[in-house]
Amino acid sequence: MIAIPLLGLGTWPLTGADATDSVRSGIESGYRLIDTAAIYDNEVAVGAGIAESGVPRDDLFVTTKLRGSDQVSGDIRGAIERSLDRLGLERLDLFLIHWPLPRLDRYVAAFEGMLACRDAGLVRYVGVSNFLEKHLRRVVAETGEAPAVNQIQMDPSLTRLPVRRANDELGVLTQSWSPLGRGDVLSAPAVGEIAQRLDCTPAQVVLAWHRAQGVVPIARSADPVRRQENLAAVDIRLAPADVDALNRLDRGESAARDVETEEHF
Ligand SMILES: NC(=O)c1ccc[n+]([C@@H]2O[C@H](COP(=O)([O-])OP(=O)(O)OC[C@H]3O[C@@H](n4cnc5c(N)ncnc54)[C@H](OP(=O)(O)O)[C@@H]3O)[C@@H](O)[C@H]2O)c1
Repeated sequence: MIAIPLLGLGTWPLTGADATDSVRSGIESGYRLIDTAAIYDNEVAVGAGIAESGVPRDDLFVTTKLRGSDQVSGDIRGAIERSLDRLGLERLDLFLIHWPLPRLDRYVAAFEGMLACRDAGLVRYVGVSNFLEKHLRRVVAETGEAPAVNQIQMDPSLTRLPVRRANDELGVLTQSWSPLGRGDVLSAPAVGEIAQRLDCTPAQVVLAWHRAQGVVPIARSADPVRRQENLAAVDIRLAPADVDALNRLDRGESAARDVETEEHF
């Protein structure tokens, strides 16, 4: 079972000083899980924020992701070493395959390469992102190991039940990206009603909805006050009826991104 903080700090699309400031002040205010990716072009800036925070490395949980071009080349060890070099770290906590890219059929080989990096001590846990049930099952069948994490797009308007069920069945922790629906879901009346009743903010209600279902959200805000507000959501508990009310905002799986065809390199 993976040991991981309850809430992560997202860094996309921040770059340069904005990313460094966000990471440094986020860690200073209490965030311990930092999420970046090679393709965000901000690993150097994120690493600077980690160093400037002064928090001991072992108190932090740092995630980055394998970009598509490295999945295709198959040089997984080179990719992780380059990410470590940019971040200024000797070891990652979590390394994810960023997208499955099924057309290229390289994700099982990439996962094998990541397992070898884990066994060599370059990373504590390896996982995937944007995988559907069939991609997960293939990885497990062909490598004999389940990813520690599957990071998927999820918010109350995209509940992603089919892939979450597969994650649960295979012992894969669900992390959610765009957990606030990039802000869009915060104005839903059901969210506002619960926020008013619990005397908290709409963003806190939505983050508590993720937590109530055992999901670790990776939320991003450029605003230090909002980052603090989001962090405080880990103390908010939703009643099952409130979780159900938010689940009714679901627009269905067809509203999710099409990972069978979406490609990023
Ligand atoms: N694995 C993947 O493929 C993948 C894809 C996309 C993203 N991600 C990761 O997931 C992270 C989060 O996703 P995201 O950035 O797309 O979306 P998000 O966290 O759902 O939403 C961010 C938006 O919500 C606003 N916001 C944040 N806190 C708020 C609050 N308390 N009240 C009101 N508005 C608030 C932010 O505005 P302000 O900045 O103005 O506060 C920003 O516009 C990314 O940063 C990245 O690390 C992963």
